[in-house]
Amino acid sequence: MTDVLILGGTGWLSGRIAERWLLSGAAVTCLARGGRPAPQGATVALADRDHPAAYDLVSRSDWDHVVDVSSRADHVRAAVDALGARAGRWTYVSSVSVYADDDREDADESAPLLEPAEPGDDDDYGAQKVAAENTVRELGGGRTLIVRPGLIVGDGDPSDRFGYWGAAFLRARGEDVLVPASQGTDVQVIDVDDLADFIVATDAAGVVNAVGERHPLSEVFALFRSSARHDGQVVEAPDDWLGAQGVEYWMGERSLPLWLPADMVGFMRRSNRRYREAGGGLRPLADTVARVVADEDERGVDRPRKAGLSRPEELALLRRLR
Ligand SMILES: NC(=O)c1ccc[n+]([C@@H]2O[C@H](COP(=O)([O-])OP(=O)(O)OC[C@H]3O[C@@H](n4cnc5c(N)ncnc54)[C@H](OP(=O)(O)O)[C@@H]3O)[C@@H](O)[C@H]2O)c1
Repeated sequence: MTDVLILGGTGWLSGRIAERWLLSGAAVTCLARGGRPAPQGATVALADRDHPAAYDLVSRSDWDHVVDVSSRADHVRAAVDALGARAGRWTYVSSVSVYADDDREDADESAPLLEPAEPGDDDDYGAQKVAAENTVRELGGGRTLIVRPGLIVGDGDPSDRFGYWGAAFLRARGEDVLVPASQGTDVQVIDVDDLADFIVATDAAGVVNAVGERHPLSEVFALFRSSARHDGQVVEAPDDWLGAQGVEYWMGERSLPLWLPADMVGFMRRSNRRYREAGGGLRPLADTVARVVADEDERGVDRPRKAGLSRPEELALLRRLR
């Protein structure tokens, strides 16, 4: 039986990875602080990675595969030191945020990276991921896989970004929905379940961007609209008008998720050639959208969100635009 240790395993992506490995018949141990449940059938090793003894419970075993999702370079350093010698294979979930720029289309895994974080740069997510990748590389190329996902989407997404559009079209039945005009913007996402399947099934080593195909923003809105059976109007707002109204790009409060500044031409247009060559699957975007719309409906379209406009904010903007 394959013995898998997931450093995490109770989060959104890491939970899906744990579930898939359990389904494949592996023995799965999840190391986490215990705030959220691990998938049924997994063994939980309760530990806080802020603590120097965090790996004591799991460092006396051999692991066929260790998966780490941490975004803390110090946590990754300590895990590699404690467990690296006894791990057959190591997968580290990094991010496309490691790249130094977003100004080139089709950039692959060899594109320049940010400088790695120095101790104390705790808030620089991309730089922390670069430092963590460097530590994982010390284990040797043949047995390590560094996965760099773009925007991860699917049901249960805790970031509320992609799902905003499901909620926006569902909550406006018969009424207008505000979208950014943003002609020429592409959307490139990876379904959480495709990503989990890839991590469990692939034997690739090295670095792989985990990003999907590119879709025009207007096509993504059309998929959400159709899946939510929206029958009102879609009202396009000019990008500079939205900026003047204090609407933010991409994420956070009073934002329009997936909307990007025009100069970020490469951000959602990275190469996924290595992912495809390594066996990575990409389900149709319409399937992902349908799952996300159903999930938003179930979770409640008026729930407090981490990203997007509230319906009153959206209606106020629509009135002003007219
Ligand atoms: N969302 C995106 O669009 C996106 C894009 C690119 C890359 N990524 C990457 O994708 C991954 C997402 O993974 P995820 O969804 O599983 O993340 P998550 O929901 O944040 O879960 C993190 C896991 O680590 C555990 N953990 C956190 N702090 C810990 C500590 N101090 N000690 C022990 N365990 C700790 C958590 O459990 P406890 O809280 O119970 O301890 C949980 O199991 C991350 O690597 C992220 O950087 C995300």
